[in-house]
Amino acid sequence: MTDTDDEYRPGLEGVVAELATQATIEETLFLLYEDRLPTPDERESLRASLAANRTLPAEALAAVRATAEAGGDAMDALRAAVGAAHVDYEPGDPAADALRAAAVVPTAAAAYWRYHENEEPLAPNPDLRHAADYLRMLTGEAPAERAVRGIETYLNAVVDHGFNASTFTARAIVSTESDVLSGVTGAIGALKGPLHGGAPGPVLDMLEEVHESGDPEGWVHDRLDAGERLMGFGHRVYRVRDPRAAVLSTAAEAFYAEDDAGFFESATEFESVARDVLRERKPDHRLDTNVEFYTAVLHAGIGIPRELFTATFAVGRVGGWTAHALEQLENNRIVRPRARYVGAEGRRYVPDDER
Ligand code: ACO
Repeated sequence: MTDTDDEYRPGLEGVVAELATQATIEETLFLLYEDRLPTPDERESLRASLAANRTLPAEALAAVRATAEAGGDAMDALRAAVGAAHVDYEPGDPAADALRAAAVVPTAAAAYWRYHENEEPLAPNPDLRHAADYLRMLTGEAPAERAVRGIETYLNAVVDHGFNASTFTARAIVSTESDVLSGVTGAIGALKGPLHGGAPGPVLDMLEEVHESGDPEGWVHDRLDAGERLMGFGHRVYRVRDPRAAVLSTAAEAFYAEDDAGFFESATEFESVARDVLRERKPDHRLDTNVEFYTAVLHAGIGIPRELFTATFAVGRVGGWTAHALEQLENNRIVRPRARYVGAEGRRYVPDDER
């Protein structure tokens, strides 16, 4: 990574698509950790290590259950689970902590959903690939191959993305020489916010509302008149369509080709209508679809509950957080940005009776 690497580069879609649509998440994790693709033996070895680490300690499961019963959301449950994931081993070896974090996030997300639905969580199946086991623990059924390919393409597409807020958070935390699990716990908190990872659930709500309104263009104008933002549009860095949106739109199209192509088509039609209205109403800002828009469309097809969209983002992004944490520790220096004070000068402590 370089310090000027956070911009869009033409052709990126091709590279992202090549990896996202073909690799397993194990291969992508290996690539992030080792800077090369694994041999088949190395891939199998990482798959087995992840599988062996997927089981959550009872204390972490209890925290997930308590969160679900108290009405907390899936991200609250992930934060609690990763916070308690160290109790059955001694944390501190960064590479082992990284693997542990990457392994337990899907187990915690699936367990949250089972408790939420008043069902018992399912134990991980160590024979399965990471992505397939996530879907199985969630639904209780062996997932269809097209669902596994869809989720794996998604996880690969979102695994890492420069210095986004949650990755920066993870790096800042481990730069204090805290441990990698603490970095991941903080990153989960950063990802939770609707301006970062919390958008895809609302994207689905939006698509349903638009469908019910029967007037996409009027619906967009009404939202903008009310001062609202369209979820799944805009990006802090990109001034073009997010290259991941292209990859996920193709993945969603392939997924829906077998049934319900109508839903996919209505989403693409809305994308085009909304983009035109945004161009007209916000000519100074180029607002296009970001990764969250087609995430929502793809996840809905795969059958991931919308309450778990952000947690599923964490299932992928934990690979990037941990790879960044390991890279930070390789040549560590504490992350300590400076702030410029712009308040009043010359103020003094005032005693109570003079205030
Ligand atoms: N819908 C409508 N208008 C928007 C949107 C949007 N989605 N995004 C930005 N704008 C408008 C703002 O209202 C503002 O208009 P104004 O100057 O007339 O007041 C202008 O564009 C610039 O807004 P900023 O807040 O400066 O844009 P910024 O680039 O900082 O924001 C962000 C990026 C937070 C992603 C924003 O586009 C947004 O809120 N999008 C919706 C939420 C979303 O989809 N989040 C997921 C992001 S992707 C990710 O984190 C993985």
